[in-house]
Amino acid sequence: MFDLQEIRADFPLLGRKVYGKPLVYLDNGATAQKPRQVIDKVNYLHSELNGNIHRGAHYLSEECTSEYEAAREAVRRFIGAGSTREIVFTSGATQSINTVAYSYGEKFVHEGDNIVVTEMEHHANIVPWQLLCERKGAELRVLPFSDDGSLRTDRLPELLDKRTKMVAITQASNVLGTRPDLKYVIHMAHDAGVPVLVDGCQGIVHGGVDVRELDCDFYVFSGHKLYGPTGIGVLWAKEKWLEAMPPFLGGGDMVKTVTFAKTIYAELPLKFEAGTTNFIGAIGLGEAVRYLETLDLVALGQHEHALLDYTTEKLLQIPGLRIYGQTPDKCSIVSFTAEGTHPYDIGMILDKMGIAVRTGTHCAEPVMTHYGLTGMVRASLALYNTLEEADRLAEGVAKAVTMLRG
Ligand code: ALA
Repeated sequence: MFDLQEIRADFPLLGRKVYGKPLVYLDNGATAQKPRQVIDKVNYLHSELNGNIHRGAHYLSEECTSEYEAAREAVRRFIGAGSTREIVFTSGATQSINTVAYSYGEKFVHEGDNIVVTEMEHHANIVPWQLLCERKGAELRVLPFSDDGSLRTDRLPELLDKRTKMVAITQASNVLGTRPDLKYVIHMAHDAGVPVLVDGCQGIVHGGVDVRELDCDFYVFSGHKLYGPTGIGVLWAKEKWLEAMPPFLGGGDMVKTVTFAKTIYAELPLKFEAGTTNFIGAIGLGEAVRYLETLDLVALGQHEHALLDYTTEKLLQIPGLRIYGQTPDKCSIVSFTAEGTHPYDIGMILDKMGIAVRTGTHCAEPVMTHYGLTGMVRASLALYNTLEEADRLAEGVAKAVTMLRG
């Protein structure tokens, strides 16, 4: 079990006020707050240990290198990967997906091939594939979702054929909260000989992952949504893919030997870590993972679920409010609109009450288009949020709606 107040005390920012009101932070889907353990670690690194990894013949460099590699091991353990050779540090999920779209795409995608994405992806899992398709003369195919937010996995067989080179799919929608049936999708894709990239940006935060059990081919996530620092992320891939793919970025650290005639690349995973990586961010992410490992994540998952149900029920008491995404096992994301009001206005009024939500397209414009909208309000709940905060949100929205409707 857990003591929520004790956990909240680990996150200093949660204690601050905004416009004189106690902060209610409900924009965790965009970025989560950091525990003191991560903040202290990053401060310590900057103030006492900064030395470039894999390079220096000195104490600081060596210590940083071993912390960096320990963070890689912590991430490996956290996602259930078989080897640290499969864990590539990137700047975030966006760089991870671009790496795959570019490197895998260079080697394996040709004119007339196709890539399958879903209608509920955020832009990071759409645009890199579009760029690839434009570059190669390939086709982007889209697996749709229904109005209740469920993914039409029944339509997958008709999208897969001999020319399909990748299925790229989210583990949990950042707008609808939907958790697609990944097991089924991966099974279908593999049956057709197609690899699967899973975007774990939201999914890893709400329930985690075991990449070997899931049996996907690529898995990506960002550190800053997982209570870690900004500017760090992970690309996990089965070793056979990373071996087969050419490097994405060239530079220092990703090479074994360089001559003007030929360069031999470094072993995995360094082949995909060109230049000075965000090693302090990576070590900070390792600390975030270690912090999470001290918590009862199963109990906290149940807490998030109860919080989601409570928030949903409260918000639905507001006349004219519509929630998008109603699948039973959705993660704790509540996106909504209220008749006769604009999402930006609701967000602005909530902000003045100290309540932080996100408004707009949530970097998933096709989801908005599906419902004929230009934006929604989104409350994304994290393990440290409380029922009292859900009450403040519902009261705040009710007040905002009354004000805006005049
Ligand atoms: N994709 C992030 C979000 O959902 C930025 O807000």
